[in-house]
Amino acid sequence: MDVKKRYTITAALPYANGPIHLGHVAGAHLPADIYARYLRQKNASVIFISGSDEHGVPITVRAQQESSTPQKVVDKYHALNKKALEGLGISYDIFARTSSPTHYETAANFFTVLCQKGIFEVHETAQYYDPLHQQFLSDRYIKGICPHCSNPNAYGDQCEACGSTLSPEELIDPTSAISGEKPVLKNTKHWYLPLHKYEAWLKEWILEEHKDFKTNVYGQCKGWLDQGLQPRAVTRDLSWGIPVPLPEGTDKVLYVWFDAPIGYISATKEWAQAKKVDWEPFWQDPTTTLVHFLGKDNIVFHCIIFPVMLKAHGEFILPKQVPANEFLNLEGKKFSTSRNHAVWLHDYLEDFKGKEDVLRYVLCTITPENKDSDFTWKDFQDKNNNELVANLGNLVNRTLNLVHRDFDGVVPPRATSNQSDQHLLDTLSTSFTEVGNAIEQFKFKEALQLCMGYATLGNKYLTDMAPWHLIKSSPVSAGTVLHTTLQLIATVALLIRPFLPQTSKKIADMLGLQEMGWDNIDVTNLLKVGSRLKSPELLFEKIEDSVIEAQREKLERG
Ligand code: MF3
Ligand code: ZN
Repeated sequence: MDVKKRYTITAALPYANGPIHLGHVAGAHLPADIYARYLRQKNASVIFISGSDEHGVPITVRAQQESSTPQKVVDKYHALNKKALEGLGISYDIFARTSSPTHYETAANFFTVLCQKGIFEVHETAQYYDPLHQQFLSDRYIKGICPHCSNPNAYGDQCEACGSTLSPEELIDPTSAISGEKPVLKNTKHWYLPLHKYEAWLKEWILEEHKDFKTNVYGQCKGWLDQGLQPRAVTRDLSWGIPVPLPEGTDKVLYVWFDAPIGYISATKEWAQAKKVDWEPFWQDPTTTLVHFLGKDNIVFHCIIFPVMLKAHGEFILPKQVPANEFLNLEGKKFSTSRNHAVWLHDYLEDFKGKEDVLRYVLCTITPENKDSDFTWKDFQDKNNNELVANLGNLVNRTLNLVHRDFDGVVPPRATSNQSDQHLLDTLSTSFTEVGNAIEQFKFKEALQLCMGYATLGNKYLTDMAPWHLIKSSPVSAGTVLHTTLQLIATVALLIRPFLPQTSKKIADMLGLQEMGWDNIDVTNLLKVGSRLKSPELLFEKIEDSVIEAQREKLERG
């Protein structure tokens, strides 16, 4: 019996404290989607998960800024982001939220299991406390001077000017970000995950067994492990979050980075319940391939902290791959929510209706796979006009027009053969393996380039063979050329399915190409001789300078 391979694929849960921008999409959600769609084409059993990360201090900060409540903030951004991501065609099986009852229960239970197994260390430490507001201050709520670069606005967890990770005690002249008062130190008790006890195991698991992690991921992990790991508090003195499920846990919640990744498991449970299937195989069966997609700022959580949690718990599988990406910049600068230097996904979808695939295309060509990359509106326009319109769109359009003009819109037979014809079909016969291999190695840019390369070949073939001339001297030969070009277009339509799903469907619809998986494809016979084609509809249209100018101005207005 043919057993389906099982995959659990996650895209980092975006914080529901603001809208999603193109950086989130390029870094995690789009590559994850391409991968999930590809695996479904390969007939694997896939669950593709994401959702809103609804805890954490940034959400309470946002609530304060908007004179709102954390709950209202997460309700708003969860709905906005879910709609936008799904609008781009990101094909989650579930886009969950960490405020769901299933998640509360799952996360609290996870904590309880670790408690009962005696995993945690409990420490009482002195932490900053705002005497005016009578509350402990999370790292984000303490500001001060960075000890490394003297930036006067560093936060207790991080200096955004020089990028160093900080702890609040390192800040010079700390003040409370809530009241502006000087905070005092007060004792409090917290539960710590003893990462140091897992160092030897992590070194074995990552540095020895996972030499196959991407170099950027492996390198970051090695850096952390070489530095040595410290116990990490997984509880916080906050009111917004999942209550610590212990009698001594009043007024304490689980640290957001403890509960959020468990959100992947809770989401799976919710999905499975709705589908009336078991969730366990997706997280407990060692033959399941667990893959986490995320940006580089999340590497430590997915390669070190969450695996330690899973390992300590004992009932879960570990990730096989963590294909993290570097960062996407925007017009040469970092995306910044606070400075509004961003292209918000929901805005794009509103401004460029029907052009979802254009964005998917452009973002995929600039995925920051190995180093930071840059989104510019000019490049967006160029790629649309020169690649999508001039290459793929043009190929489909001129071929279909010729078939309609000269062959009544019916697939002509491949009656004669010639060398370039055979050569083309040979090239196509390995295309699914080649593109598939690139996708399986998380080289999405390369995979898409390969697809577009086949379209380029098609255009060249058509131009070289000039069926519009041949039709006069040898209609049979012209038919053969168009037949071959149609098979090529059908091949490309299937190949681009994971990348450009809408476009793929549109082409398939025009060709009358049936739904099929990626295995055992005969590229010489995707379309049957004599089958009728629909009239061509334009796949892409030129984007004018004025449209690009308007977007640039919008950015500058901030
Ligand atoms: N919300 C986090 C961020 O945007 C990512 C959380 S990923 C998960 O950086 F693993 F915690 F879910
Ligand atoms: Zn600094």
